[in-house]
Amino acid sequence: MIDPHTSVAQTVLAHSACAEVFQRHRIDYCCQGARSIADACSHRGVAVPGLLAELDAAIAARGDSAVAGAALPTPELVDHIVSTHHAYLRRALPFIGGLATKVHRVHGDKEPRLGVVHELCATLADDLDAHLDQEEQHLFPALIAPTGDRAQLTCELAAMFDDHLAIGALLERLRTATDDYTPPAWACTSYRTLFAELASLEDDILRHVHLENHVLMPRFV
Ligand SMILES: [Fe+2]
Ligand SMILES: [Fe+2]
Repeated sequence: MIDPHTSVAQTVLAHSACAEVFQRHRIDYCCQGARSIADACSHRGVAVPGLLAELDAAIAARGDSAVAGAALPTPELVDHIVSTHHAYLRRALPFIGGLATKVHRVHGDKEPRLGVVHELCATLADDLDAHLDQEEQHLFPALIAPTGDRAQLTCELAAMFDDHLAIGALLERLRTATDDYTPPAWACTSYRTLFAELASLEDDILRHVHLENHVLMPRFV
């Protein structure tokens, strides 16, 4: 049974199956992960007993509490982040950007929110491209082979954390603009695919940022 006073991030670290439950209730387990489950529920207007039951069910359904990332040494963890999450974003962002442009062009007159979605997708892609480059070219090499400049490293990790907050805020705005990624009944396949891809994007980014904020960063700060 999960304790509601445990932090959201610690819960996901101990039981990765809980990530999906928090995400479903729009509880941020990355940048706001230090909040207790009880606080996060009150912030979102979610009933604590119901959420705890869902968390327990998710853990039972998964059948294990192993968290692969937490067990990896830093070089392997960084390699996992880059080869899994960064590689996914490098593929997904151009595809989603093209789709957002197309859906906005075709249906924008009827649905003004598609203009907002289009703009948010472009901003998110620009911010993430710069963020991934910074991590791969500067931060991660410094974490794997620290040169001793601890203050510089702390500064770069703080910048990473701030980037994550900004990315989280953009995802929040996307979720609101898309009404929780809900397409209208008349939506064509491209429209539906765009919203489904955005939901997958959010899912992957939350797992990615969770690993960086709550597994990687505490090893150095
Ligand atoms: Fe990253
Ligand atoms: Fe990051």
